[in-house]
Amino acid sequence: MYICTENINIELLNKKFKRYTVTAALPYANGPVHIGHLAGVYIPADIYVRYLRMCEQDVMFIGGSDEHGVPITIKARQQGVTPKDIVDKYHTIIKQSFEEFGITFDIYSRTSSAMHHQTAADFFKTLYEHGKFIEKTTQQYYDEENKQFLADRYITGECPFCHYERAYGDQCEKCGTSLNPTDLINPKSAISGKAPILKDTKHWYLPLNHYEMFFREWILEGHQSDWKTNVYGQCKSWIDQGLQPRAVTRDLDWGVKVPLPDAQGKVLYVWFDAPIGYISATKELTDDWEKYWKDPDTKLVHFIGKDNIVFHCLIFPAMLKAEGSYILPDNVPANEFLNLENNKISTSQNWAVWLHEYLQELPDKQDVLRYVLTACAPETKDNDFTWKDFQTRNNSELVAIFGNFVNRTVVLTEKYFQNQVPAITELTDLDKAAIAECAKNTGKKLRIALNITVSVKDLTS
Ligand code: 2FM
Ligand code: ZN
Repeated sequence: MYICTENINIELLNKKFKRYTVTAALPYANGPVHIGHLAGVYIPADIYVRYLRMCEQDVMFIGGSDEHGVPITIKARQQGVTPKDIVDKYHTIIKQSFEEFGITFDIYSRTSSAMHHQTAADFFKTLYEHGKFIEKTTQQYYDEENKQFLADRYITGECPFCHYERAYGDQCEKCGTSLNPTDLINPKSAISGKAPILKDTKHWYLPLNHYEMFFREWILEGHQSDWKTNVYGQCKSWIDQGLQPRAVTRDLDWGVKVPLPDAQGKVLYVWFDAPIGYISATKELTDDWEKYWKDPDTKLVHFIGKDNIVFHCLIFPAMLKAEGSYILPDNVPANEFLNLENNKISTSQNWAVWLHEYLQELPDKQDVLRYVLTACAPETKDNDFTWKDFQTRNNSELVAIFGNFVNRTVVLTEKYFQNQVPAITELTDLDKAAIAECAKNTGKKLRIALNITVSVKDLTS
């Protein structure tokens, strides 16, 4: 996983930050989580948080289900159930599998909660009242048969860039380009399969272009050396291409209602409400939530996959900046993707190792999966998971190498120390050097033999 160990050590030693707010991307509640999610986001975030807690830092680790957006309504329609049925089912599966796997969130919440709806609506209202939005009436695709506007994935067609035939109205999954519905060639309604008509509709836009200078200073000048190359590179490319106003509302009936009198049948865009979910979850957990979101002495870190970079580095920070009272992320470690047996993991094609199924099949092997996914984490490039590699890492690395190390330690402790870990007496120079070497990479203090804490300073001075 990506951690700049040196920086963190310096931070911890200098007490640069009083506390940490760590978020892990909220998974869509339209399917279970799989090993790609774990390797890219949840295990790295959990390692970081466990490390900070070991260093006795004040940490808030936030997770939750992202329960709005068009894919959920499409799935509900396909299955003849309500969107609520879908999110209830998957939220329960996801939450339980994270718990069993040992992802140590302080809270795992959900964006259908009343607290979240209120927080997201209030956030929108504040920006609206401070004149931070542009109102625009544009023509958007409309399905006459179903009497419904076709937001995002409700519209499909040919990608104008790579000519993939099943691109969505918001993105082409083949070439990754972010699209507007009207960019698609031969658009079709995903509900009726018919060609849509264009119809006027009013929406609220966040003028990202007004934030260009802020992004240039904050990211391009301020984070060139400490953000990952993939994250920095994507931000630079978006900023250099010229930022455009981004609609933050949709014509849909599933989501957080737009809190304005002239917005009947409209909800907040899922990517407007979802990151606010991090804030509402913190509020749900503690009345003291503001110190985790508004105190400049708090370090905010978002763990995400690479497809979420623009939302966490540009759109959400622009929202936070527009609101004015929040801190900005200090780092956004985004990983690449994990493939499975050389093929892209796909929820719709059911090509995945699902966490809840793994836990049913191998109920006491959480740590094996954690180890393997840490070892093959897609930090700087897409990586591949294979069952053969899983077997080898288990048998050779965990059982043979690590198991042997533990076994020898236990056997020698029995043989020479009557099964008791001896108290530390005089440390030899070799002991000191070994401890100092470990401490260099693990933080301010190193715990030895469970109950003796040796300060790094003592060891290195
Ligand atoms: O890509 C996804 O799975 C999104 N549901 C991530 C949302 S992260 C945050 F903004 F909530
Ligand atoms: Zn494309």
